[in-house]
This record gives sequence, C-alpha cells and structure tokens, in this order.
Amino acid sequence: MQEQLIRWHVYDNASQLQVAATEAVLKSAKTAIDENGRFSIVLAGGTTPKEIYQQLRTAQTDWSSWHVYFGDERCLPADHLDRNSRMAFDAWLSHVSIPAQQVHVMPAELGPDMAAARYSDLLAGAETFDCVLLGMGEDAHTASLFPGQVWEAADGAPAIPVRNAPKPPSDRVSLSASRLSRARQVMFFVTGAGKREAMKAWRGGEQVPVAAIRPVAGVDVYIDRAAND
Ligand code: 6PG
Repeated sequence: MQEQLIRWHVYDNASQLQVAATEAVLKSAKTAIDENGRFSIVLAGGTTPKEIYQQLRTAQTDWSSWHVYFGDERCLPADHLDRNSRMAFDAWLSHVSIPAQQVHVMPAELGPDMAAARYSDLLAGAETFDCVLLGMGEDAHTASLFPGQVWEAADGAPAIPVRNAPKPPSDRVSLSASRLSRARQVMFFVTGAGKREAMKAWRGGEQVPVAAIRPVAGVDVYIDRAAND
C-alpha cells in the first residue's frame, strides 16, 4: 500500500484557512478545465467546509465544466437539514449555474445498501477525480469511514453502506478509502481544538481512517492552529 505523503498548511485561524482553501479549490478547477475542459470534485460534509462553499458562491469560474460528487451522505430524507447535500446546496450549489445533471447527490434516502449500489453504478464510468475535499472527525474519521469499521467493499465497489456510525445518524453511505484516493488532489480541512486528539493519532502513525486516504500525489491538509498545536 502506498505511503501517505502529507503536506501541512497551517493557518492562524479558520477564516484565513477558508480563504486559502477556496483559492486552492479554484486553482484546481482552473487547471483541470484548462487541461481537460471539465473539473470533477468530491464534496466533504459536516460543518467545516460550509464557509468555503459560501465563498465559492461568488467565484469567477466556468460552472458549466464542473461535475460535483459527494464523499458521503447521511441516510435521511433528501431535503433534511442534516444532509450533507442540503448543506452544500444551501451554502453554494443553489446559487451557481452548475448544470443540474452534473451534480450527483447520493440517494441516501434509499438506505445504506441501495444508495451504495446506485452510487457505485453511477461511478462505474467515472475517471480519477480531479479534486476530493474531506473533513476529519474527532475520532479521525473521514467521510463516513469510521475507526473499527470497514473502509473498503469486499467486491471493490466505490461506494459502501455504513451502519452503526458513531456520529449520528447511524446509517450512512460513503465512498471507500481507495475510491477517495483515486484523485489528482485531496484536500483535508481541519479546524478547532476538538480535533487535536485526532491530529495526534494521525501524526503518530495510527491506522485511522484519515491515514487510509493515499492518493499518488499525496494529500494537502489545511489546518488551523487551534487544531494543530
Ligand atoms: C459527516 C461528514 C464527516 C465530517 C467530519 C467533520 O457526514 O459528518 O462527512 O466526515 O467531515 O465529521 O465534521 P465537522 O466539519 O462538522 O467537524
């Protein structure tokens, strides 16, 4: 298994991190669109990326070339306020002109197994992602890959069902560690003192979910001092 190459980008506070992260996403988009005429991005859930998504709302970019996927989703009704897709739409996607057929929401309202099967079918023809955005939980989980659980499908499917997740809701669907790693660029966004223990585990080489994301080009971790010190 490829070693995890990590580039740490430390910021004094979350707002400086958010500005830098937004710029990095737009740079990734420009490179991909200039080279291939399209940009595929996998969105992180949770609360950390919300401000970054809000800043993307006013970005100058060719939205018609963007193809949006999700790294994980909670098994809740499609318009539930706690859905990762609802957060992304409210903060950003509803405010820009990405063609609707290019935003691929995980059908998590169907339950873990059906959602994983449908999303795996959708991804069957998808190439390496240009950019994957990820958060990190206080137990060093990422997407919906949690410590002590399965991070890969036995049959190699790109999307996996998740049950008994320690972070509610317990039923979820997630891209696997290997599918999240099939990306030209992976960026983690980590803020707040609550993430310090998880950071120690990660830096200490523990076999935690964030450490299982190992793209060829390595990962870029955008972290504020509160989470880092
Ligand atoms: C989710 C996310 C999850 C999140 C981390 C960090 O569904 O909750 O996919 O992996 O990224 O738990 O969450 P915060 O950004 O809210 O700390």
